[in-house]
Amino acid sequence: MHKVLVVDDDKVLQQSVRDALEYHHFSVEVADDGKEALTKVYGSKFDLVVMDVNMPNMSGMEALVEMKKHDPSLIVLIMTAYSNVTDAVKSVKEGAYNYLEKPITSENLVALIKRALKARSLVETTAFSAPKISIDGETTEGKFVGESNEMKKVFNIISKLAKVATPVLIRGESGTGKELVARAIHYNGPRKDEKLVTINCGSIPETLIESELFGHEKGAFTGADSRKIGKFQYANGGTLFLDEIGDISAAMQVKLLRVLQEQTFTPIGSNREVKVDVRVIAASHKPFEKMISEGTFREDLFYRLNVLPVFLPALRERTSDIPHLVEYYIKYFNSVHGLNIKGFNQESLDVLKGYNWPGNIRELRNVVEHCFIMESSDEITPSSLPHQLFESRKNANADERSDVIDIEGIRNSVIDDLKKDDLDQYTFKFATKGEGDSVKLDFQNSKESFEKEFITKALKLHKGKINQTALHANIPKKTLLRKIDKYGLNPKEYY
Ligand SMILES: Nc1ncnc2c1ncn2[C@@H]1O[C@H](COP(=O)(O)OP(=O)(O)OP(=O)(O)O)[C@@H](O)[C@H]1O
Ligand SMILES: [Mg+2]
Repeated sequence: MHKVLVVDDDKVLQQSVRDALEYHHFSVEVADDGKEALTKVYGSKFDLVVMDVNMPNMSGMEALVEMKKHDPSLIVLIMTAYSNVTDAVKSVKEGAYNYLEKPITSENLVALIKRALKARSLVETTAFSAPKISIDGETTEGKFVGESNEMKKVFNIISKLAKVATPVLIRGESGTGKELVARAIHYNGPRKDEKLVTINCGSIPETLIESELFGHEKGAFTGADSRKIGKFQYANGGTLFLDEIGDISAAMQVKLLRVLQEQTFTPIGSNREVKVDVRVIAASHKPFEKMISEGTFREDLFYRLNVLPVFLPALRERTSDIPHLVEYYIKYFNSVHGLNIKGFNQESLDVLKGYNWPGNIRELRNVVEHCFIMESSDEITPSSLPHQLFESRKNANADERSDVIDIEGIRNSVIDDLKKDDLDQYTFKFATKGEGDSVKLDFQNSKESFEKEFITKALKLHKGKINQTALHANIPKKTLLRKIDKYGLNPKEYY
């Protein structure tokens, strides 16, 4: 039975939504405002939240943001009066699944809830839930896609790693499924009913990361106005996934090493040690061996983490998986967009197989979605494939590849975005192909000034939000962060 939380300060509406849902066999709990709703969401697992916007104590918008932080898989539907539709649209940008305009009919509500749950059961596979991998290394339920020998080896390792509590280091290029592996290890092991807590070490500023990991006492530093529990403590009994571990500072490396060795740490400003039982899974695409020889990553920490390494092959190294992944995403996007696309024709599949996939599975997913939008027949043909697939980059060497910026792709996507927005607000000047000829004289300089201008404009367009900029301008997040740093840009200026 699916568990739904209904949040509204209007008791009459709250009760009528509850009645409608219970009639359709949902298990329902209620809350009178955002704050109470948040407490309930922290306390137990809901499948879905139906929530009003304007409420005392904490608005629906604020509660939504916190809920999605706590549980990204939680589906939130916003109920709103017609006059507040702008808020509702904003809520969708903040991660709400959709919004319903009041007055709400139980028919609409139930239909929307069923659609949301169905879409999630398909999405589960990728980002949110537990990919099930049976002990013999075969996939079950088609959830973690991979039929190639390379992936079978990975599944085999995962099933072994799941049973023990040793740290794991997952390595692989961007988009190869490192996070999925972390989830598979956690959800197939004895800790599966405990928490899997994720922290992205690359996206948290140096000054905050210690407090995020280990927590702090009230007054430990300026701005610490209450006590905070760190992720290590929060994950106690479960698993902590340290994503982008290659990005942490030397000082944090020392602290991490200590927790890994002793399973104890001291929150900032505290004089008491905390003991925890946490399984650590780390991931990164960084060249650790090189970093160790350059002195930017501690060898002792590397060996601690690397007891059980998992290497994820790049997609170009296992092209036999491409048809399976494509089939999987076709099914998914058919359901999301309510279409009935049969698949890619042979010619377009051949293009996919010949491409070098610098963004790996994530890029493949985006390509399939792109084709869904472009294709007007029920079979995908090469004319719907994005431009970049026809530029043969299969033989580019790996180091260069990690730096590839898909300028054409970014350019097109920003222009597309601009078309949607108010064009006059942003004036863009892109070098045309003709102008490019003279630019070639100093390629490096031109590339840099273009990149800087481009990233500045993209950041402005997306109000300084890193994730959105990365997504819509088609720049890998890490590349974006690196470039922001390189060009000394300040995303906060565009908030
Ligand atoms: N074998 C797979 N089967 C199905 N989906 C996959 C597979 N591998 C990756 N994906 C999907 O591809 C996307 C990228 O995967 P994930 O986020 O795990 O990659 P990553 O290696 O952590 O990337 P990054 O280094 O950029 O963080 C996700 O949507 C994930 O669900
Ligand atoms: Mg990742």
